[in-house]
Amino acid sequence: EPLHYSNYLINGELKKWEGETAEVYSTISSTEEYKPTLVGSVPNMDAESAKEVLLAACDAYGKGKGAWPTMKVSDRIACMEKFVEQMKTKRDEVVKLLMWEIGKNLPDSEKEFDRTVEYIYDTIEDYKQLDRDSAKFLKRDGVYAHIRRGPLGIVLCLGPYNYPLNETFALLIPALIMGNTAIFKPAKHGVLLITPLMEAFKNSFPRGVVNIIFGRGREVAAPIMQSGRIDVLALIGNSKSAIALQDQHPNKNRLRLVLGLEAKNPAIILPDADLDLAVEECINGTLSFNGQRCTALKMIYVHEDIREEFNKRFSAKVDALKFGNPWEAGVKLTPLPEPDKPAYIKELIDDALEKGAKILNKKGGEISDNYIYPAVLYPVNEEMRVYQEEQFGPVIPVKLFNDIDQILDELALSNYGQQVSLFGKDVYELSPLIDTLVNLVCRVNLNSSCQRGPDVFPFTGRKDSAVSTLSVHDALRSFSIRTFVATKDT
Ligand code: G3H
Repeated sequence: EPLHYSNYLINGELKKWEGETAEVYSTISSTEEYKPTLVGSVPNMDAESAKEVLLAACDAYGKGKGAWPTMKVSDRIACMEKFVEQMKTKRDEVVKLLMWEIGKNLPDSEKEFDRTVEYIYDTIEDYKQLDRDSAKFLKRDGVYAHIRRGPLGIVLCLGPYNYPLNETFALLIPALIMGNTAIFKPAKHGVLLITPLMEAFKNSFPRGVVNIIFGRGREVAAPIMQSGRIDVLALIGNSKSAIALQDQHPNKNRLRLVLGLEAKNPAIILPDADLDLAVEECINGTLSFNGQRCTALKMIYVHEDIREEFNKRFSAKVDALKFGNPWEAGVKLTPLPEPDKPAYIKELIDDALEKGAKILNKKGGEISDNYIYPAVLYPVNEEMRVYQEEQFGPVIPVKLFNDIDQILDELALSNYGQQVSLFGKDVYELSPLIDTLVNLVCRVNLNSSCQRGPDVFPFTGRKDSAVSTLSVHDALRSFSIRTFVATKDT
């Protein structure tokens, strides 16, 4: 049954939206002949209502005097605990919607929910520790400083479709617990799955602390930014949207950014790598959630000495992966939530083929309904679009290398700098290489694929990949500022 949801959260109230609504479709077909399925609808809010919501967040912040930014730590924690307890009761509904709305398979949907709950508990614990640390005094030259961590103000929070729960909450939860007030707009795909949690938000936080809106970015997020009253833009998504939103703000110097953006993480397969392990990790790294992860492996560099064997084993494994609906057992590849994605991936494949690459696996590039079978492309070169663009989908470029310096030069030139996976038996002996890699990216994964988790680890990137650091510990700092009260020792 489609879920028609007609409220938005403003001022602690679930207010009925009387205007236009936006239908939500799943690219999963429920009929024999392929047809997207209507799964529900949400309010399609306008600029005027967005501004009302902004006012609610500003009032709750109360220019720093509001009940929330001045609330005792233990009381704020109690609100967060109440929220997470109520959220847990909605697991089945949210998991089901994760599958329908974004096509994430069952184990990964369950994992997304569970890791988000864990993220909230970890945030609460870390916040308690932060508060204990803040209670310390600094003393120098007869001056005592009592350090505190304070909120930044009003946060606009926008999450991505690939982790509409986990990554959005990785922004929203630390922003709230640090005493900021927030306006949160769910992602276009993965919007309905927030609706079972609306009551929990309403019941757990004081009025106006968290406000949830629906609508198109240019209709609702742009006027909020134009007001100049947003202190933090918290967004996980693409640089284009992040830049467009920043440009709307009349005083960019006053805007704090917490951004998780694109990446083109490579795997480097050294000649002495354990090939079975490398193949297994590269399958997960490239094709978990069909490659729609900012942390996905989006390029494989394979050394000439092992190129033939790696390519053979890797392509065979790709062909053995099961495609199907997200709730079916053993399914790895699932329908893509963006209707235009298969055509885009096909363009990348065709461009690479024209420029000399071949598809190594049998079904690579075949389109079926809203799916395109992963194509392993080899040999890829710098002229190809699949080398230059963040594909964010099921196509795997493989590039030959002889000399590791060639890869280091390419990474140095890349616009991105999130992670690298390094496969080889003597990686510890290659410590100078690791020392260089950590200067080009922020995480080097030895003999394992790239990933964000565990969520307590720092999650960031160089260059166009990120601004600020997420992780439980770092996010609390990204959404706050260190202030202090100074006293003279008289
Ligand atoms: O899209 C980026 C996500 O943070 C990926 O998270 O590596 O844990 O799947 P993950």
